Amino acid sequence: MQTLHVDLGHSRYPIDIGPGLLGDAGLLDARIPGRDLLIVSNVTVAPLYLERLRRSLPGRRVGECILPDGESHKTLATAGTIFDALVAQRQNRDATLVALGGGVVGDLGGFAAACYQRGIACVQVPTTLLAQVDSSVGGKTGVNHPGGKNLIGAFHQPAAVIADTDTLTTLPDRELRAGLAEIVKYGCICDAGLFDWLEINLPRLLARDPAALTHAIAASCRLKASVVARDERESNVRAILNFGHTFGHAIEAATAYTSYLHGEAVAIGMLIAADLSARLGLIDREAAARLRALLERAGLPVAAPAIGADRARTLMQMDKKVRAGALRLVLLDALGNAVVTADYDESALTATLTEYFA
Ligand code: NAD
Ligand code: GLY
Repeated sequence: MQTLHVDLGHSRYPIDIGPGLLGDAGLLDARIPGRDLLIVSNVTVAPLYLERLRRSLPGRRVGECILPDGESHKTLATAGTIFDALVAQRQNRDATLVALGGGVVGDLGGFAAACYQRGIACVQVPTTLLAQVDSSVGGKTGVNHPGGKNLIGAFHQPAAVIADTDTLTTLPDRELRAGLAEIVKYGCICDAGLFDWLEINLPRLLARDPAALTHAIAASCRLKASVVARDERESNVRAILNFGHTFGHAIEAATAYTSYLHGEAVAIGMLIAADLSARLGLIDREAAARLRALLERAGLPVAAPAIGADRARTLMQMDKKVRAGALRLVLLDALGNAVVTADYDESALTATLTEYFA
């Protein structure tokens, strides 16, 4: 097991990564505060892992709330069912919500924990690669709105993150690939060495080699923890974690959160951002081509849906990086270094959007 920490100054929490953690009663006892727990999971993950988790929590009063599966359920209405469960189980402010599942369960559970009685503790137990490398860490929680992705939410740091890598054995291939997209993201934005490592070790990750997966998860969490420690509330540098997301979120919203997995939309979004970076002369075409080749080898989509450049632009204006009407974009000035800027040639953006979305 590897243990990393997210150090925010005012608080610090552990991220444990390794096999067998759901069966480690001693670890769970140390990491999950409180006597009263609500485990939030979904109809897919609960039958696989809820009992294993429950058995490792002797002496606790454990309630559960099982949600429908899918991004289209990441809504205020679904968050409402978690509030209903908390109230029905008469949970108090010292209760802990344990989110067992992928990023959808984690974002919903974290959001409910942020709101319930103005904030209860939340422990993230991520079971997808994407959630283990990204969404469980850093305290962004929330739900979607038909008008845009993650428009309603709160910052609410977890008390702990427990990433049991054994859970990845049951993950469908498509979901594994979607998680790889977020790992590629870290290589693009802040670690050229990780990008090189991915180019060499991608076959091991696709074959679910445990050592390779643990290495990639730990490297990703280390990078994310360091960015979040510098800018918890996304005042500046944290925005780089959104590389590919402005375009990706537009793709997800335009297709009603049903056609593309989040990681797939991010993969296409990263290509669009790299294309624009090359068009603006920030990176050379060869760097963009390396990114495309890696994503293709990972089995990720590289073509955007034909939603039209205007529709994409309208949806992008709802991005949380818009300031005073100006859309800030996360671009690359090297493979391994991202920049956030509102100072770009509009015609280059229009040309990129037209090429990808027409
Ligand atoms: P997901 O939560 O929908 O999980 C993917 C699928 O895998 C679901 O069908 C789920 O039920 C299933 N599943 C989960 N664990 C499994 C397992 N071990 N075995 C078999 N099936 C399993 O999707 P995701 O990719 O984990 O997360 C995407 C969400 O995360 C998006 O809503 C995205 O916006 C959000 N996100 C949030 C942050 C953040 O910082 N909060 C960062 C990145 C992404
Ligand atoms: N996934 C973007 C962030 O956590 O800031």
